[in-house]
Amino acid sequence: MRRRTLSFALPLTAAALLAIGAAAPAPVSTLKGVYSADQAAAGAQLYATRCAMCHGKMLEGTFETPALQDRFIANWSKAPLSDLYDYVARAMPQFAPGSLKPDETAKIVAYLLQSNALPAGPQALPAESAALKRVMLEPKPASVSAEAVPKK
Ligand code: HEC
Repeated sequence: MRRRTLSFALPLTAAALLAIGAAAPAPVSTLKGVYSADQAAAGAQLYATRCAMCHGKMLEGTFETPALQDRFIANWSKAPLSDLYDYVARAMPQFAPGSLKPDETAKIVAYLLQSNALPAGPQALPAESAALKRVMLEPKPASVSAEAVPKK
């Protein structure tokens, strides 16, 4: 049996990676603690008054409103956090889109990260879309124990 080889593709890949590395500063992952615990706590309060009536007290959603957990975080993953920040700023709360101040949006996004088991860190999340382009939304890796233990 003849083994197929893809080695011809490697020099090109390595060159492409080097080019990317030289062009942009390394992105920061949400797994590294990109918001502060205080910020998320403030976000929880805002969530309760501005979002929970539709998305649910436990972010569980309803039949007409998406949950803000699990598949939600997967939907926005592998993309800059600015995508989620911009969406919330522009489209939510659905009855008054655009009514959140930038720091309120950042607090709520911090709370959404915390609620999806992403760690807090020493610094608050910047309330600025441009700065969030460098933050990659990466979900917490699914762990066997989290799968095995039922939520309720
Ligand atoms: C009046 C009800 C309502 C309120 C209040 C509301 N939302 Fe939503 N939200 C929705 C609906 C409905 C959708 C689905 C919209 C769509 O699919 O176009 C949605 C979608 C979203 C999404 C995208 C979900 C996904 O799976 O991609 C996010 C994030 C979100 N809302 C965040 C918020 C936040 C944060 C607040 C509070 C500031 C908020 N929403 C307040 C009704 C609401």
